[in-house]
Amino acid sequence: MVRKYWSTALAAALVVSLAATFNTLGQVKIYQAQATILFDPNPPRPLGQKVENIVDLGSGSFWDNREYYETQYKIIQSMKVTTAVVSELGLQHDGAFLGNLPPGAPAPEAQVSEEIAAEVLRGRLKVEPIKESRLAVVKLEDADPQRAQRILNVLVDTYVQQNLDDAVTSTATAADWLRSQLDKLKVDLESSEMALHEYKETKNILSVAIDDQSNMLREEMKQLNDTLTSVRTRKEEVQARRDELAKIKGDNPTDLPASELLESNVLMGLRTSYEEAIRTRDGLLGEGKGRNYPDVKEADARAEAAKKALLAEVKNIQRALDKDLAVLKRQEAGLSGLFERAKKQALDLNLLEIEYNRLRRSKENNEKLYSLVLERTKESDLARVLRVNNIRVLDRPLVPRAPVRPQVTRSIAIGVFLGVLLGIATALARGLLDRSLKTPDEVEKDLGLAFLGLLPEIDDGGKPGTYTPRRQRGKPVRVTNSELIVHEQPTSGIAEAARTIRTNLLFMAPDKPYRTLLVTSAGPSEGKTTVATCIAIVMAQAGQKVALIDCDLRRPRVHRVFRKTSEVGVTTAMIEDSLDDAVLETDVPNLWVIPAGPIPPNPAELLHSDKFKKFLDDVKKRFDRVIIDSPPIVPVTDAAVLSTLVDGTVLVVRAFKTTKELARHAVRALQDIGATKAGAVLNAVNFSKHEYKYRYYYYQRQGYYEADPPPRRSRKGGDPDADGAASAPPS
Ligand SMILES: Nc1ncnc2c1ncn2[C@@H]1O[C@H](COP(=O)(O)OP(=O)(O)OP(=O)(O)O)[C@@H](O)[C@H]1O
Ligand SMILES: [Mg+2]
Repeated sequence: MVRKYWSTALAAALVVSLAATFNTLGQVKIYQAQATILFDPNPPRPLGQKVENIVDLGSGSFWDNREYYETQYKIIQSMKVTTAVVSELGLQHDGAFLGNLPPGAPAPEAQVSEEIAAEVLRGRLKVEPIKESRLAVVKLEDADPQRAQRILNVLVDTYVQQNLDDAVTSTATAADWLRSQLDKLKVDLESSEMALHEYKETKNILSVAIDDQSNMLREEMKQLNDTLTSVRTRKEEVQARRDELAKIKGDNPTDLPASELLESNVLMGLRTSYEEAIRTRDGLLGEGKGRNYPDVKEADARAEAAKKALLAEVKNIQRALDKDLAVLKRQEAGLSGLFERAKKQALDLNLLEIEYNRLRRSKENNEKLYSLVLERTKESDLARVLRVNNIRVLDRPLVPRAPVRPQVTRSIAIGVFLGVLLGIATALARGLLDRSLKTPDEVEKDLGLAFLGLLPEIDDGGKPGTYTPRRQRGKPVRVTNSELIVHEQPTSGIAEAARTIRTNLLFMAPDKPYRTLLVTSAGPSEGKTTVATCIAIVMAQAGQKVALIDCDLRRPRVHRVFRKTSEVGVTTAMIEDSLDDAVLETDVPNLWVIPAGPIPPNPAELLHSDKFKKFLDDVKKRFDRVIIDSPPIVPVTDAAVLSTLVDGTVLVVRAFKTTKELARHAVRALQDIGATKAGAVLNAVNFSKHEYKYRYYYYQRQGYYEADPPPRRSRKGGDPDADGAASAPPS
């Protein structure tokens, strides 16, 4: 496609390339100033690591956060920073800046608001982070390199200063807040201290810690408890002893508890003497002595005395025990009272302790808080005067030397590239949109008509690939009309082509050669008249008497081709019913023409009439061959009517002009009417066109036969009707 429509493609490519070039060269040169900013992760900390910053400038997880950097990039381009720059440099009055004028251009008067000027500045500002670093490049574009550098210089300074100012302001705000909190905390602390003090005073709590008191009480209680327990034990013992002693009866005083005996020697002795007296008596009684035996009596008396003494002793012990018991009971009561009192005291102390602890805790908390805030206040006061900044300008902007835009080479290269693309696209589009018939193959395939031959394009101007009438010493030969070239230059390529058509026509119907031939085409100006003339001339050249009838009663042209009058012709011959005046002789031997004559209002009806049929019959009688030129078949019916009256119809297809649809329409019209179709002729073929390369080279060799024209008749497949076909001239 591109090879075929190379001119269109080239034109499109050139137009776009040139447009791109002019556009690029016509653009204002834009310069870019650059400054590098460093975000310092470790800003100097004069207060040391232990003192924490009030405003985090550059440490901790926040610092590692990408959001921090993104925020900073936005701040650089913020209205706050740009407006500050605008007002510092007075850019809102700077016409050259607002209009982005190159240096030296006269600056117009300008007065806009600071915000608008800031917006303009923001539009020219760009921030690009440098990968894997804490650096960012700030870029400012401007038509004036000096101005770009000046503005960017102020901008980076403003930004860095504002960063510091923000930190300082934040620190100051924090310090103020801390101070206000400090006052409040001081009041709180004092009041909690007072409350504790008052409590101690009213509850009479010594300055000794309340814990000690409670310890003392606990100790006391323990001791009391121990003593009480031992008294109770003793009491129980005495009680038990008394109870045991109370069991002793008068009849058996020896039944004494062993513990009592062990304790009292007196009791032991009394019991021994009692038992001995009893034994002695029992011994005497055993010897058979009677109760009244003196020794027995004496023993009884002794036993009685011992018994009495023993019982009296037991009574004594009992009395002593009773006394002991009474003492012990008193002791126990006293101790119990003491213990209960201590217990109550401990409970009271517990209650005191709870309240005391609450007050003490509140005081301690207040103390802690106060000291913390106090410390931070002191630190913030220090930080306030420090003014440490974590953002610095690493590289100050320089005056840019070369413009960044337009990138002439690149832009032009892109323009050329796009141009070439567009050229290719145009060629493709043209190719796809082109529905015209071009080659003999297409004619045969698309129309289903026999291909009779082609007629090259004739051109006086010497267009490449066309047939130019031969020139002599550079001057064109006087050719009456280009249609007559076949007659005037019989050895030319076009004459050769016409002869091929003649040959093919004869081969189409060798048994019954077409005597009457209608030449028509689908649309206007496709070369009907030209083809009809050429065919008529070559047939005449073959020696036959040929009549060329101009039946195009709408736009007749044959008379002009042969420079004849249009006064007479088909119409006059029909009216006069005589051919004599209408048949005109031509310069071409054996060729006569019958022009159209005066144009009638109703050509189709005229051609349909019997008179016309008679006229045609008359012509046929006089001539060997009758060639009829006609109007186009699609818009008017004339040609369709004529096609029923002739032996064969030749359809002219103009290469690169007649569309497939239109040509098919014409073929269908002929088919509908039942006309005999002789075939199709491809007219106005330009051999320089891509479609005809190699294949139709033969025709292209213009003048091939002119150099040494071979005898036509000896040519293989030459005109079979050339011999003996010549007849006498018309009578
Ligand atoms: N082979 C050709 N080479 C160069 N020009 C040609 C050729 N054929 C026709 N022409 C030109 O095309 C134009 C129309 O040709 P022509 O009058 O033969 O066509 P037409 O079909 O008879 O037209 P109309 O429909 O008006 O009768 C003329 O100017 C003619 O010179
Ligand atoms: Mg014509």
